[in-house]
Amino acid sequence: MITKQVTTQNNNSAAIGVFDSGVGGLSIAKCIHQTLPYENLIYVADTQYAPYGDIQHDILTKRVHSIAQYFLSKKVKAIVVACNTATVSVISQLREEIEVPIIGVEPAIKPAALASKNAKVGILVTQATAKNKNFIQLVERYKNDAQVSIQACPGLVDLIEQGKIDNKECQQLLQQYLTPLLNEGIDSLVLGCTHYPFLIKQIKAIAGDQLTIYETATPVTQQLKRRLAALSVNASLEQTGQCQFLSSKVSSQQQELFSKLWGQSVDLKPLP
Ligand code: DGL
Repeated sequence: MITKQVTTQNNNSAAIGVFDSGVGGLSIAKCIHQTLPYENLIYVADTQYAPYGDIQHDILTKRVHSIAQYFLSKKVKAIVVACNTATVSVISQLREEIEVPIIGVEPAIKPAALASKNAKVGILVTQATAKNKNFIQLVERYKNDAQVSIQACPGLVDLIEQGKIDNKECQQLLQQYLTPLLNEGIDSLVLGCTHYPFLIKQIKAIAGDQLTIYETATPVTQQLKRRLAALSVNASLEQTGQCQFLSSKVSSQQQELFSKLWGQSVDLKPLP
């Protein structure tokens, strides 16, 4: 039987733990930091095991548990699973085991389906998410009357992790994944992987400005804000939040990529 781990140390100045397989979750962490600048953040990138979409379920489960344990050792007051793959695969198990509020990312299928004028929505996801039954159920539940086309995008996360966002390979791969969706006439595109917001400029260059792009950073941040407020554990507004960054595989190339995507110099530390 699993014994639920309860943290009694929750307090207003405790940090919020945010993690992803790599740099993707920075798209969420950035929005949290901009919206709640007084909150302390600890960001963990599990780069050694990225992409999560390519590893076996039991290894993914172990990795997520090990990162959650690290956060609990730091007495975080909330955990944000800034990764769609980890959310659909492991979040319910994690919630059963850990008392700290756990916020996951859910692709914005519902608002996209409701707002789509021609009821045609495309969604870009990793291969693991595309095959996940929880994700497929989510699409079914929220698609309303829209036709939702799921496009798995193998290779994109690897390119982003290597910082190859603007190169030809990335452009060709994006073209390959977007073309069938555009041919179907979609007017709304949901980004179902937290790495993909770093490709919005490149997506627009292929698809044009007419396509409405939906990402999850804002709804996740709002949900986090609500949960912190409900528990009365928001940090003091006078505080300036500190952001720490850790990775399971630190390199100078990664440090550079973190700094580029975060928008200022990042001191990347190894995950113990
Ligand atoms: N950012 C992760 C997600 O949202 C990337 C998945 C992966 O590492 O395969 O799914």
